[in-house]
Amino acid sequence: MSTRLKKLNAAREALKLVKPGMTLGVGSGSTVKVFIDELARKFTHRDLKVVAASLDSEIHLLLRGFNPLPLYSVDEIDLAIDGADEVDPAGNLIKGGGAALTREKIIDYYSREYVIIVDDSKLVEKLCTSHPIPVEVIPIAWRQVKKRIEKKLGGKIVLREAVKKNGPIITDNGNIILDYYPSDTPPLKPTELETLLNNVPGVIENGVFAIKKPSKIIVGYAERVEVKSIPSL
Ligand code: A5P
Repeated sequence: MSTRLKKLNAAREALKLVKPGMTLGVGSGSTVKVFIDELARKFTHRDLKVVAASLDSEIHLLLRGFNPLPLYSVDEIDLAIDGADEVDPAGNLIKGGGAALTREKIIDYYSREYVIIVDDSKLVEKLCTSHPIPVEVIPIAWRQVKKRIEKKLGGKIVLREAVKKNGPIITDNGNIILDYYPSDTPPLKPTELETLLNNVPGVIENGVFAIKKPSKIIVGYAERVEVKSIPSL
């Protein structure tokens, strides 16, 4: 119950940034669903164009009366609102606990600005404190990608298994997810890690969001909300 309240506080603060006429990017996850619920209390499909980062978010938007559009049908995204699994003090993120990292990164990185909404449990001193880095991979390449990353960067890769289906989970893009547990040596900057992982053939995208930072991190607590502005480099 109190986690839901924290998410609600963050979502309500983010709602203040949304203006009629905007093209809005919507990420995915449970915090974003709370945001969509709040969005629907203030706006209708006539007020906003909306693009979503997952089938799950598209369905939730439809259920709340919006008409999510394909990304290619909009010129620009004014603002994207998204969740995260981990946020470090510099505004670097790990995303993709829900396996939607590729479309999330496309929407977040192509929007004029993106804002992250989290509850305080997501704040960490250092990335990978409690979450691995999700890596979306072309299915036929998964063993080669696993071997290449473990050899080049150290650490351990685990194929993400489905819970109510046999075998690996399949993303909205028809790919699979490798969860990467980096070793601490050599210590890499988040931007380096993001680039190195994406340079491995067979990798579609990874869940480190460091090259383009969010403009704001909105942190929901039970009785307050904190808005951290992240300077763009
Ligand atoms: C989805 O792939 C993720 O990137 C989500 O944004 C992240 O897992 C946050 O989800 P919750 O809001 O459910 O914690």
